[in-house]
Amino acid sequence: MRSGPGLADTVHQVPDRRIVLIAPAWPYANGPRHIGHVVGFAVPADVLARFERLRGSRVLMASGTDEHGTPITYEADKEGIPPREFVDRNNASIVDDLVRLGMTYDIFTRTTTANHYRVTQDMFLKLYEKGYLVAHKQMGAFDPASGRTLPDRYIEGKCPICGYPDARGDQCDNCGNQLDPTDLINPHQRGSDAPVEFRETEHFFFDLPAFGERLKTWIGSHDNWRPNVRKYSLEFVRNLKPRAITRDLDWGVPVPLPGWEDNPAKKIYVWFDAVIGYLSASIEWAMQRGEPDAWKDWWESPDSHHYYVMGKDNITFHTVLWPAILMGAGDFHLPDDIVASEFLHMEGKKFSTSRGQVIYVKDVLDRYDADALRYYLMIAGPENQDTDFTWDEFVRRNNDELVATWGNLVHRTLVNAHRNFAAVPEPGAMTAADETLLLEVEKALEYVGQQLQEARFQNALKHAMAMASKVNVYLGTEQPWHTIKTDRERAGTVLYVALRCVDNLKTMFAPFLPFSSQRLHAMLGYEDLIAPQPEVRQFAEDATAHTVITGDYESGDRWHPSELRPGRKLPNPEPLFKRLDEVVEEAPSS
Ligand code: MF3
Ligand code: ZN
Repeated sequence: MRSGPGLADTVHQVPDRRIVLIAPAWPYANGPRHIGHVVGFAVPADVLARFERLRGSRVLMASGTDEHGTPITYEADKEGIPPREFVDRNNASIVDDLVRLGMTYDIFTRTTTANHYRVTQDMFLKLYEKGYLVAHKQMGAFDPASGRTLPDRYIEGKCPICGYPDARGDQCDNCGNQLDPTDLINPHQRGSDAPVEFRETEHFFFDLPAFGERLKTWIGSHDNWRPNVRKYSLEFVRNLKPRAITRDLDWGVPVPLPGWEDNPAKKIYVWFDAVIGYLSASIEWAMQRGEPDAWKDWWESPDSHHYYVMGKDNITFHTVLWPAILMGAGDFHLPDDIVASEFLHMEGKKFSTSRGQVIYVKDVLDRYDADALRYYLMIAGPENQDTDFTWDEFVRRNNDELVATWGNLVHRTLVNAHRNFAAVPEPGAMTAADETLLLEVEKALEYVGQQLQEARFQNALKHAMAMASKVNVYLGTEQPWHTIKTDRERAGTVLYVALRCVDNLKTMFAPFLPFSSQRLHAMLGYEDLIAPQPEVRQFAEDATAHTVITGDYESGDRWHPSELRPGRKLPNPEPLFKRLDEVVEEAPSS
């Protein structure tokens, strides 16, 4: 396949490396993240990014905090602070959550940077010049008591399409259709009977119907997308209407046209600027690394591969709005995979910050290891259907699977090898059982890789865990800790086989469990990095600077069977995972 580990020197010239964009949805800077958020946009994206880097791909994982729009202004108003102060605080706490989770963003920036404003306005003007943006007067929603604009999502009423009584002004959570507040039957303000007043106001509309046929064909051609993604998207394109992409707001990207640019009450719609973030963040990343054109390898090449990762409420923005912007603005690479999760619930109910029904990432990580949380979210999360989070199940998975299966295999293999040989033992003649097991684990590496490439995380993880069980059974049968007393060479061979299996399994688990896999890597006597971690840096821009998550993650091509060298010294092993008490007392739920 590919040649050796391409490190920074030749990254640009190697022509046959897969070029992969990982595009995790941008979290709103409206509070710290809870586990229902990160199970959708974060952990699956990092698993993909880590896997692709391990197989030698050139990966760019680009995202940031989504800092505009009514989800921000509404909450900032409630706290009585300016939106700028509100998003600064929340960007900092989200960055902290994501770094502690081990999210290897190449760039995690913000939508309030000068670069993002420039790129958003450029895209707006490209669409405008091609005639895809047209100004129209429409009815806008206002609160008659205060006279202020009402955010779409703070208006509720009956869905005109499916009849669901609690549809929001921006979309219906029951049928997935995007809505305008004026579509709602019997509109009222969220959580009360307060009336909504509609007044005339002028806005730019994006001519989505102009892309209808192309979108339909394009979506239809992706029969590998998860069923929910296809369903929502095809339903949505059946009924395309021009969509308002400006708002009556004083917080956002200014509309770059005379008469609009200086109007403090009109800004670009948050979803229009947010999706453009994928492109602007890629451009920022290229500038910051001193190769200003590097982003083009991802965005202007038909050969790159783009994964978008999100919760299901984000689907149509990524399968309709964003591709239409890309089609309209020029010749940009369109999304290839839309990895959308269903929802994670808690005791059967939706996570809800306002109702206090929530488990924050920070609270979990104050008590438990990031790998334990990552494992639970990936193995028991809502990959294909809504799932329920319970602490019992969190503890059970940790104890039965991480500790008793994978951790136990690692521990007894390493302890016995270290105690008796202090190094990787020299194998003698192999039995058929030895050869078969080794081959099977090596095949698993290939299978797990295929599953990961298709974002079938639970298949991948289950297969790796089943292999770990098999190796445990092998050790139980061969009993090297007894054989060692009578036949040192045979015991050495068995431990050698087990070590090779553990080394291969380490590679398979590394995208999911980066912290423990790196420790295991060192316990196997390696000195380099297999699972690097992100860092926080300041990026300077014009006169200001902003925080980013970034890192040096190049690992070279490692998705290959272990070649563990006999004779390599083994350090003293330590347990990989911690057993948790059966009853998690004071479970973090605030
Ligand atoms: N902020 C949105 C949410 O949390 C997601 C934005 S994704 C983007 O639902 F692509 F638009 F950035
Ligand atoms: Zn509906």
